[in-house]
Amino acid sequence: MKKLWGGRFEGKSESWIDEFGASISFDQALAVQDIQGSLAHVKMLGHTGIINEEEAETIKNGLLAVQKKLADNELVFSVKNEDIHLNIETFLHQEIGAVAGKLHTGRSRNDQVATDMHLYLKTIVQQTIEKIHTFRHVLVEKAGNHIETIMPGYTHLQHAQPISFAHHLMAYYGMLTRDQERFSESLKRIDISPLGCAALAGTTFPIDREYSAKELGFSAIYDNSLDGVSDRDFILEFLSNSSIMMMHLTRFCEELILWCSHEFQFIELTDTFSTGSSIMPQKKNPDMAELIRGKSGRVFGNLFGLLTVLKGLPLAYNKDLQEDKEGMIDTAHTILTSLDIMAGMIDTMKINEETMESSTEKDFSNATELADYLAAKGMPFREAHEVVGKLVLACTKKGIYLQDIALKDYQDVTPLIEKDIYEALKSRTAVKRRNSHGGTGFEQVKATVEKATAQLEKEE
Ligand code: ARG
Repeated sequence: MKKLWGGRFEGKSESWIDEFGASISFDQALAVQDIQGSLAHVKMLGHTGIINEEEAETIKNGLLAVQKKLADNELVFSVKNEDIHLNIETFLHQEIGAVAGKLHTGRSRNDQVATDMHLYLKTIVQQTIEKIHTFRHVLVEKAGNHIETIMPGYTHLQHAQPISFAHHLMAYYGMLTRDQERFSESLKRIDISPLGCAALAGTTFPIDREYSAKELGFSAIYDNSLDGVSDRDFILEFLSNSSIMMMHLTRFCEELILWCSHEFQFIELTDTFSTGSSIMPQKKNPDMAELIRGKSGRVFGNLFGLLTVLKGLPLAYNKDLQEDKEGMIDTAHTILTSLDIMAGMIDTMKINEETMESSTEKDFSNATELADYLAAKGMPFREAHEVVGKLVLACTKKGIYLQDIALKDYQDVTPLIEKDIYEALKSRTAVKRRNSHGGTGFEQVKATVEKATAQLEKEE
């Protein structure tokens, strides 16, 4: 079979070499965008008179016929045609004959592929933004129902201070809000048309790049043709934003996995998001949370893969750039599904409020309360810290907690301690009183939830 670029070649091609060079197995994911790009290009060719109106019309109708076959799943892509661009052009040729060859006037596969990827990522990033928004909504709704649910707050995975469960959820709301912002801000740099940069140097034909860009819904065009065909920053930024977001999701997933373990029993995930074991009948494993944690590996890998492909690459197009697609497409699928799963998992999980709260009652997470109590009564905080530290040590030796110490024994240590200490040592009181801006106090958390609800509404 003669290749579309076969003019200067004499030797026969080898199928295993064709296979190595081909990208059709993965860039067929860009078929929709490739046809869309060609439709805009041919309209521009007709509009500028580079080809006549009749030819433009024939090519347009041919492309529409290919588009319909694509939608009806009737196209069979071939490795012999290397990539999505040559496959589509071949289909077009089959539809309308030799005039199909005029479509490639004033463009190259180099600006064509870049255009396809800009179009693809624009859609994917918009979908990502919507899905993050939905997930943030789920978080805020859950948080709104659990403002007064008490849980142990951790540092070093050790009980630190009691907090509101809603406060914990709203921490993820904050992270996801920044993730969404990062994706939104990146749109500006995706929304640029490379179409018409041609192979690397522009073209002698009087093309109208603004026209085709507008046709495709791009807000801007690349001002340098070399940059336009070589730029892959917009993909790197997508991979980097995806990596940061996935990292956030893995932190949450790690906690979900811990929380539904026998040791914690803070939550229960629904059956939909769990799986069983083929040997141990009792098992209910948090597979989806584990998989999101695990799939972060491929997303980070895709970022590093592309950074490595681009490092030291001379201008302009090099075939290395064909390696930019699989990681991008794989990341798109991974993050979109991960967001759906996160939203579903959090929305449906059961929260064992009593277990959470009671785990803050038999621990020393109220030690700071006692130190703060003494400091509020005038004892320097450092001294109070020392006094409480000694009391904790004494308690651990006796197997009791701070709330179990008799008032008389407290007063032997310092007369500053009075009977109101027992109220102060309750975890609910401790949470409630942490009313500094951004703290876990109920009023603070309620205000954050309200602010977030208003913000989400504004975004809709
Ligand atoms: N399949 C190619 C890629 O994805 C399209 C561009 C080919 N350009 C070329 N000069 N060989 O990068």
